[in-house]
Amino acid sequence: MKKQNIALVGLGFGGAFAKIYRAHPNVNELILFDTNADLLKKAADDTGNVKCADSFEAILADPSIDAVHLVTPIPLHADQTVAVLEAGKHCACTVPMATSLEDIRRIFAAIRKSGKTYMMMETTLYTYQFFYASQMKADGKFGKIQFLRGSHYQDMVNWPSYWLGLPPMWYGTHAIAPMVALSDSRICKVHCFGSGTMDEEMSRQYGNPFPVETAIFEFENGLKGEATRSLFETARVYQEGMFIYGSDSCFEWGFADHDSPYITTAIPAADGSRGGRADVQVVQMPNYYHLLPEELWPFTVGGNYDPLNPQDSLKKGAGAGHHGAHAHLVHEFVSSLIEGRKPWIDEVLGANITAAGICAHESAMRDGEAVVVPKF
Ligand SMILES: NC(=O)c1ccc[n+]([C@@H]2O[C@H](COP(=O)([O-])OP(=O)(O)OC[C@H]3O[C@@H](n4cnc5c(N)ncnc54)[C@H](O)[C@@H]3O)[C@@H](O)[C@H]2O)c1
Repeated sequence: MKKQNIALVGLGFGGAFAKIYRAHPNVNELILFDTNADLLKKAADDTGNVKCADSFEAILADPSIDAVHLVTPIPLHADQTVAVLEAGKHCACTVPMATSLEDIRRIFAAIRKSGKTYMMMETTLYTYQFFYASQMKADGKFGKIQFLRGSHYQDMVNWPSYWLGLPPMWYGTHAIAPMVALSDSRICKVHCFGSGTMDEEMSRQYGNPFPVETAIFEFENGLKGEATRSLFETARVYQEGMFIYGSDSCFEWGFADHDSPYITTAIPAADGSRGGRADVQVVQMPNYYHLLPEELWPFTVGGNYDPLNPQDSLKKGAGAGHHGAHAHLVHEFVSSLIEGRKPWIDEVLGANITAAGICAHESAMRDGEAVVVPKF
């Protein structure tokens, strides 16, 4: 039950987690690092009671650090995760886990060799909405789940250069994760199409011609789910949505990201009348703060966190980010280390969510051909 010494690396979006770790009752030392020295100083001053590391390598070499949470640019995730695990430390990493199947395999090998813990820090699985839908499922309110859908619409123009032209499904995790988590299964196959055209300059970096990708995923238990992801040159308002279609009820995310969801409940057809009817309610989501230690409650409400400008996390102040998810992610990671168990979003769940997106893009590049998602 030793309190953990945690290093937080990458303080753009990552800055949103600093005060949460600092407040967690089972965190002893918090060590911050960013290659941007100004940002590092600002984050340290803003958080208080932290140490700053001189380099990523210094963190790896420091035997007193138990675990590292990476919130660095996407192309670094796999190499840094492997480096952290090989240094004998537990690793949490923001999404996506990796951008190739080979890199996922390298991460698995490093986990096996080191015996350390890995968690993918997927925000959509700790939102108020996901807690609510999970409770509906546990209470049997959906009846039979017949179909799933996920969406993530976000225009990444002017984001750092590694984003430009990124295959949409390589960052499909927010659309895919809730479907996998609610399916009681894993994605085993995908057909995906790319759509639209993109500025030629943008297409060059990753050889990806598509601003939008839309996929049908097949689950091992026979269920199907659809996910659509737009990244560029599409005017849709931002939304990371989750849609569950059951025989008795449906849960549908609102139009924009902060709109309340629509819950539809079937009313059985009256004798002699055609078809079933449905009652629709727009439901305000409760806050699941009570699942957290009291010290983290302030991080599930308020604040000005702006998901469209995550790099401004310090400027916006602490509070609830991604519908309250940040505090739950920190608590699950720290608790898994203290309790010596795997976190819920471990390498197996994280790999299925990530690999489904990687395989979806591969399918889109082959004009919708079926691609089998390997089992990790
Ligand atoms: N909902 C979510 O889960 C969610 C939301 C936003 C971003 N993200 C992920 O978080 C990551 C960071 O997002 P961002 O918008 O802050 O990105 P960003 O590129 O704006 O910032 C990354 C930060 O990492 C620092 N950095 C770069 N190389 C580093 C290194 N080698 N060591 C230490 N620090 C380094 C940079 O200086 C910068 O401050 C991305 O991988 C993105 O995929 C996830």
